[in-house]
Amino acid sequence: MKRVAVLTSGGDAPGMNAAIRAIVRNCAHKGITVFGVKRGFYGLIYHDFINLTVNSVGDIIHRGGTILRTSRTREFRDVNMRMRAKEALDYFGIKALFVIGGNGTLCGGYELSKLGVNVIGIPASIDNDIPGTDEAIGFDTAVNTVLDAINRIRDTATSHERIFIIEVMGRESGQIALASGLAGGAESILVPELPYDLEDVVKRINAGIARGKLHSIIVVAEGCCSAIELGKQIEKMSRHETRVTVLGHTQRGGTPTAADRILASRLATKAVELFISGDYGKMAGIQDGKVTAVSLQSVVEGKKELNRELYELARVLSI
Ligand code: F6P
Repeated sequence: MKRVAVLTSGGDAPGMNAAIRAIVRNCAHKGITVFGVKRGFYGLIYHDFINLTVNSVGDIIHRGGTILRTSRTREFRDVNMRMRAKEALDYFGIKALFVIGGNGTLCGGYELSKLGVNVIGIPASIDNDIPGTDEAIGFDTAVNTVLDAINRIRDTATSHERIFIIEVMGRESGQIALASGLAGGAESILVPELPYDLEDVVKRINAGIARGKLHSIIVVAEGCCSAIELGKQIEKMSRHETRVTVLGHTQRGGTPTAADRILASRLATKAVELFISGDYGKMAGIQDGKVTAVSLQSVVEGKKELNRELYELARVLSI
């Protein structure tokens, strides 16, 4: 019987469990044994493997987080540790490794592949900053979580006629801010990819108030600037009461949306197909609605661009 292993690493993302389930169940159909590696690359270095059966992945499709646990393993940057991981895989007769996670995870996977390990990547990160795929697992859920928060904040913002600054995650990327700001009807969206003009932000707020708007919502990506400082400046410049909400890790948890469960199921199925055809060193992705495969090298060396059209659309509509 062929053996493969799967791990989740880096920041967790809703839908990771749906991906694990789809790997295990697709492999079961083909008579392939699946091992789960606990806590990402840490478990590879320290040989923490569990057996994953069809039953052990039951009742997880709707759960956020990851049943395999996760970690950010700095030790994995050391080539000796990566060699140790390869030796473990060889010792247990594991033919390929599925890595589920964001840029750091895919980079770790790519480095392992350079040592001769058969690696296949599956993109999962709420940040949606992974090149080679239009969407990563977890992004849709995170955006909907932010949207729910924006809706709630609108109620209290209207009652008090206040300005609200809402800080969202995304590391160096403004993808969550853009999608949630556009869908949430934010007055301004600040992202690290594009410069912003504070006077223009305040001008838009004041113009809205002059037209009778009862509140203003500014969505700011964490990689752009400090929301707390921004709030102070905006309150001073606009002379309107301002509050700041930092959504933080609420964006990483929660039950995955239907879109994320379906995406995870499709990408993991593609990953198993790649294994069966011996097409290693690839990441399963989604482009224009179609499941694709791109090289891990292109993912690691690439950069995901922000959709400028969407950004302009948000500006036009938030008049
Ligand atoms: O990569 C996902 C992410 O949630 C980023 O948006 C955020 O900057 C980071 O992880 C937070 O990481 P940690 O949970 O390790 O503090």
